[in-house]
Amino acid sequence: MKVLRAQCAGACYGVQRALDAAFKANEGHDQVFTWGALIHNPQVVEELEREGIEVARSMDQLPEGSTVIVRSHGVPPSVMRALEGAGASVVDATCPYVARAQKAAARLAREGCRVIIVGEAGHPEVEGIAAFAAEAGGKADVVGSPGDVPAGLYDPIGVVVQTTQRRENLDAVLEQLKAQGLEPRVMDTICAATAERQASAAQVAAEADAMVVIGGRNSSNTTRLAEICAAAAPRTYHVESAAELDPAWFADCATVGVTAGASTPESQIHAVEQALQEL
Ligand code: F3S
Repeated sequence: MKVLRAQCAGACYGVQRALDAAFKANEGHDQVFTWGALIHNPQVVEELEREGIEVARSMDQLPEGSTVIVRSHGVPPSVMRALEGAGASVVDATCPYVARAQKAAARLAREGCRVIIVGEAGHPEVEGIAAFAAEAGGKADVVGSPGDVPAGLYDPIGVVVQTTQRRENLDAVLEQLKAQGLEPRVMDTICAATAERQASAAQVAAEADAMVVIGGRNSSNTTRLAEICAAAAPRTYHVESAAELDPAWFADCATVGVTAGASTPESQIHAVEQALQEL
């Protein structure tokens, strides 16, 4: 069985940067925390815990003088202020591309636009972006699909996008806004890493008899990769680790494609590839 890895797969710049920041902070300090799970990958979070880096979810978990890492998804400005106020030393690992979306939302709000965030309601990145718009005095609506666009909107409307969104979804939401007679200002804040992973995944899925997509089930970008692969390769399996692979999935397969979400480290991809080779 031939195992084909997508040309672009696995940990993106922002995730790798946050992981590096956490391990570096841990070298010199006893009490290092991440504000929420550092990335959407349970195995990596367990590894960080084994290294002594704990997950904090409330301010009272942070002792005076501790170090706290803000993850690549970013946080609302109020949370950043509270962390600093709690006496913790803050390492801001917000991905620069997420920070760009936060700034874009704040700018649109300052300029008087009602802000539409194309993204997944409740996702921490989206909540952070919405908070930046609110801090700048604006109102933000989170729109997951064209059907979520509220009725009764009027210009000026500004659009920002969760970094991991599919371009097709952004385009469909923009079509809907235009159909409502609006002329939205669009800040295209989709991250190139996502598009690259999606294009590579689609390419491999088109050639493969089955696809394995590796990454946390709580990772929205991994779930989206699995959706894209399933469109071309109906036998697409989303796994978190090599241990989940079932040999029966690959019966009669000549070629199996492998890809991984932006929060999946190289070690997990390698383990899956090795397990597939051994089948
Ligand atoms: Fe940043 Fe893009 Fe990764 S926004 S965290 S480089 S997917």
